[in-house]
Amino acid sequence: MAPPTDRPTAVVHAAAAFREMCDRARSEGRRVALVPTMGALHAGHLALMEEARRRVGPDGLLAVSVFVNPTQFGPNEDFSRYPRELDADVARCASVGVDAVFAPPPSEMYPAGDQTRVRVPELAGPMCGVSRPVHFEGVATVVTKLLALTGPCVAVFGRKDYQQFRVISRLTLDLFLPADIVGLPTIREPDGLALSSRNRYLSPADRARAAAIPAALRAARARYAGGERDTAALLDTVAQGLAGSVDSVDYIELRDADDLTAPPATLSEAQRAVLAVAVKVGATRLIDNTVLAEYDPTLD
Ligand code: PAJ
Repeated sequence: MAPPTDRPTAVVHAAAAFREMCDRARSEGRRVALVPTMGALHAGHLALMEEARRRVGPDGLLAVSVFVNPTQFGPNEDFSRYPRELDADVARCASVGVDAVFAPPPSEMYPAGDQTRVRVPELAGPMCGVSRPVHFEGVATVVTKLLALTGPCVAVFGRKDYQQFRVISRLTLDLFLPADIVGLPTIREPDGLALSSRNRYLSPADRARAAAIPAALRAARARYAGGERDTAALLDTVAQGLAGSVDSVDYIELRDADDLTAPPATLSEAQRAVLAVAVKVGATRLIDNTVLAEYDPTLD
């Protein structure tokens, strides 16, 4: 657990006030951490906050943004029904010692006249980028804005959204943003399902079927551990593990874990490959991944 602080959790709605708060903290010699979220916070988000607290120490300023970012949703996606529960989220943040919740209205993040967009085309192209063509431009743009407001900081993300984590790491380097980007392992339910704000859309029966996703990734990890290096065989293991349990498969892919390019048909020992899936269970789209050559604390 993060060391508790007895400071209250401030809620800030204005971008200028949030920037001022971060600037003031640094001028007092405090480090600043940012955990960007869209709210509907669960234990996965709270784990990011606890790690952020460890990184900045008990005196640091730990800020969490809660913003359902309109530009990262496609026209037929769940923007309008995405859960919004700010009061409960502030209470969850307070329980792990968050100092500030930045909860701007859309007009603060996208004021009148806004037109700048951030694109990371090669990393954003494959995988989720195929079925969600505007998604990563929206993510990259809002995260750039959040990091610009926060200023020098450590910013903590989850590897559950692996492609997003790669996009954000890249744009931070490319734009010389003064942020130290940290990516943490996926937090899972006891049966392995990755925690997600979208899991609440699942009916009990669909929730039970969704356990096939981590099971399929585990099966591929077991084959990899047994020496299998043929990408088609590894992908097929996942496909077979999902068949009959999920309603459709958006993709099952093996990609280079850093630049997300396609690896050779036979993986070399040096190849760090990420195995990533996106599926639908009922009407709910779920994603998950694992880096094969690495110990995965949440699947092994
Ligand atoms: P959201 O889905 O709310 O996730 C916020 C952060 O929590 C992301 O870094 C995500 O990877 C992480 N996270 C979600 N589920 C997790 C889990 N089970 N284990 C570990 N980390 C998990 O991702 C977004 O919001 C948005 O795209 C955002 C980056 C805030 C930009 O709008």
